[in-house]
Amino acid sequence: MPVRQSEFRRYLAPIDTSSIQQLFTDCLVVGSGIAGLRAAIEAAGQRNVTLICKRSLGESNTWNAQGGVATVLGSEDRIEYHIADTIKTGCGLCDRDIVELVVSRGPELIGQLAEWGTEFDRTDGKIDITLEGGHSHARVAHAHGDSTGRGIAEALIRKVQAHPRIHVLEHIFAIDLITDDENQCLGVLGFRPSTGLVILWAAGTILATGGAGRLYRETTNPEVATADGLGMAYRAGASLRDMEFMQFHPTTLYIAGASRALITETLRGEGAMLVDGNGVRFMQEYHPSGELAPRDVVSRAILDRMLKTNSTHVYLDVRHFDKAHFSKRFPTISELCESFDIDVSHDLIPVRPSAHYMIGGVKTDAAARTSIRNLYACGEVASTCLHGANRLGSNSLLEGLVFGQIAGQSALQDIRPSRDRFSAPRMEFAIPDSDRSRLDTDDVRNALRALMWRNVGITRKETHLAEAEDIIHFWQRYVMDKVFDHPFGWECQNMLTVANLMATAARRRQESRGVHFRGDYPETNNKQFGHHIELGKSLT
Ligand code: FUM
Repeated sequence: MPVRQSEFRRYLAPIDTSSIQQLFTDCLVVGSGIAGLRAAIEAAGQRNVTLICKRSLGESNTWNAQGGVATVLGSEDRIEYHIADTIKTGCGLCDRDIVELVVSRGPELIGQLAEWGTEFDRTDGKIDITLEGGHSHARVAHAHGDSTGRGIAEALIRKVQAHPRIHVLEHIFAIDLITDDENQCLGVLGFRPSTGLVILWAAGTILATGGAGRLYRETTNPEVATADGLGMAYRAGASLRDMEFMQFHPTTLYIAGASRALITETLRGEGAMLVDGNGVRFMQEYHPSGELAPRDVVSRAILDRMLKTNSTHVYLDVRHFDKAHFSKRFPTISELCESFDIDVSHDLIPVRPSAHYMIGGVKTDAAARTSIRNLYACGEVASTCLHGANRLGSNSLLEGLVFGQIAGQSALQDIRPSRDRFSAPRMEFAIPDSDRSRLDTDDVRNALRALMWRNVGITRKETHLAEAEDIIHFWQRYVMDKVFDHPFGWECQNMLTVANLMATAARRRQESRGVHFRGDYPETNNKQFGHHIELGKSLT
């Protein structure tokens, strides 16, 4: 059964090369999280690189990452243990070769990050490591307490900005990948508010656009995470994999009306307890590892507890922490709690789960190559099979770092010198006017996010997924046939495209595995579903 997408169109905007500004580069990197920044640095070793991002360099999921980056640093820990933990958590869908590759490169690349200026927290000169759910040993390195992502991003951004061969263009929205008839990527159609449409021709294009958390009403993700890279790759014909696997983080600050903010799992790793509205500590009733059970288990347990206690949230209890230590170790959370008058030494912190990390994405091989020639993907937008059906906490910054480097290396290996102004192909793509009614895209986005939370959320079932598909198709008919001239509209089109893929994949996987829980199929069914679900324009 092919994927049903209403009003599919290859490009979201009309193209006429005779009137669009054109830029040329050897290697184009789209996205400024850890993977994009690392890829740019690698590729710039030998080629000219242009890095574009849709807002400023610092607006990424990486920047917001609190807990840390997992790697083997402790004397008791071993690479084999980290590999085993990753595979166990992945519930049968990890690729062992990829896990070995990523985990074994970790210590060296974390060391390199430290050399490049990331100030990991240390004691007596040694990098401090802590615990998160699913890890058999402490191996989560952190920087500035709970500002690890920011500490890493700042160091990489400094390096990128100082590099003579990297040209950074902020505030460029990538609308579509440009491909030719030979399944080759030629660059990106973008939009700059100051000048309008622009084509960036590139011999190699590295997609590092991040995730899809903003498809959900409840999310830890920043505004930029609207699944644009996934939408672009799908329209270009790339294979996408594991789109049913959205990871929900168990603990996001819940204050009605306030934007959701991550409360790092390392807090539980260091002794924070989950209690319900009656003050009862409940995680042991759900899993022997208690608060440090895998994230999917904790998220479902919290939902169950919310239902049983008829409440919108549960609480994290950190009242037993030494207050001075708490504010030094978790400065971001301290500040956040203070801003809502929560005194962590007396008050409980209200939390509930929310969408956090897109495990599925653009299918890549071990060299970060996608199914489209000269197109590479790394970081959250990619599906490398490191995480399987459930990501081990803090493995994603590690993956971004390792696969960012690999994507840069592969691009260097593959690409020929850049096209110049005279060899760029002529292109025309016209879009007919639509006579269907216009919907308010703001309204559609909000309604879509609520629908995804309700129907394609932590617990799924056939009727809800089918309903989600129908409603998304209805919106697609009125939104996908329009021509927008602003990122807000293109984001809405990407969100609808990707939401449809997620609902479709979730509907096809009639079993429960990792982060994908089907109330109507609560068991894992290895016989029928011990494989990945791939979707793509030309795939079924
Ligand atoms: O809880 C956290 O700090 C999140 C870490 C992660 O998602 O890897």
